[in-house]
Amino acid sequence: MHPVRARIVGTGSYLPQTIRTNHDIEKMVDTSHEWIVARSGISERRIAAENELTSDIAYAAARKALDMAGIEPSEVDMIMVATVTPDMLFPPTACILQHKLGIGGCAAFDLNAVCSGFLYGLAIADGFIRGGNAKNILVIGAEILSRIVNWQDRTTCVLFGDGAGAVVLRADNDSDRGILSSHLHADGQYGPLLRIPAGGSAMPTTHQSVDDQLHYISMQGNEIFKVAVRCLTEVALEALRYNHVNQDELKFFIPHQANMRIIKAVASRIGLPPEKVYTNVHKYGNTSSASIPIALDEVNRKGLLHPHDLLLFDTFGGGLTWGAMLARW
Ligand code: ACO
Repeated sequence: MHPVRARIVGTGSYLPQTIRTNHDIEKMVDTSHEWIVARSGISERRIAAENELTSDIAYAAARKALDMAGIEPSEVDMIMVATVTPDMLFPPTACILQHKLGIGGCAAFDLNAVCSGFLYGLAIADGFIRGGNAKNILVIGAEILSRIVNWQDRTTCVLFGDGAGAVVLRADNDSDRGILSSHLHADGQYGPLLRIPAGGSAMPTTHQSVDDQLHYISMQGNEIFKVAVRCLTEVALEALRYNHVNQDELKFFIPHQANMRIIKAVASRIGLPPEKVYTNVHKYGNTSSASIPIALDEVNRKGLLHPHDLLLFDTFGGGLTWGAMLARW
């Protein structure tokens, strides 16, 4: 008998059909495919259809994860949706999703740790499972960032995309597989570097706030870049040291997909060869809280994972928030 761990038993993802390439964006703002690729590694991103809601794309990803886990929605004890683009401010998108899944009664809530939301959610779910308070938990990262991006601002609109990823975590005491440790951090002094200024209690929506375009993502990208590389590196090493695991033992490093240059800089500082670093930022851009579960689902469905493989997740986002997690597949 092993201690209870939270094991990932199902993954799923959903990417909207419409592809917006860098060449498409060249027609919208003063930019170029070459600039975007050189600075970010992004070639294209997905854009949700007009009638698609965050709860819809969360649903599509969740259904696939539940199917892979081989459980019915009624067996889920808790639903968490990490998002900064909920269907509406409230009710929580997790409750809307719960209803779409045809169930009621289990706990359901949204959480906002910006791009780090999914890993924060997994860590919370891990705590519930280890504490014996839940057996099956659905954790989803789902974002329709195209609706909060200013498509006239070339410094941000080239970077973001839409998508959703989901996992089912299950209590398991039959093996040593599952989440080994989570390492979460935040530093609010950097909050102004990445934010949506209006629409909250600090600046309620007014005609003026709309005219001034204050409901869109505002970001100081180059400042974030430096902090991101430092924090992602430090927290990844923290997770490895905590578990007495060295880089060679990892099967895959799955970082938040914000920018290829950030990922490469972090991987080289940690001492990881490119073949251990999973990236898909070229196809989807930065999908915030959805990026890690989408990447994990791709790795999994490509058949690249075997039982007991060690995976290191590494995330970073607005807040600023960051974190890492080591898991045994
Ligand atoms: N096309 C062409 N030129 C551009 C564009 C564009 N799309 N965007 C900015 N520029 C110009 C700038 O105006 C600037 O011009 P100037 O020198 O005349 O003033 C020049 O390019 C350089 O701008 P920088 O911002 O210094 O460029 P940088 O090399 O830092 O790259 C980028 C910008 C890609 C945003 C980078 O800083 C970055 O990726 N930062 C991290 C952002 C990030 O990851 N945010 C999300 C993390 S948290 C989360 O995921 C929610």
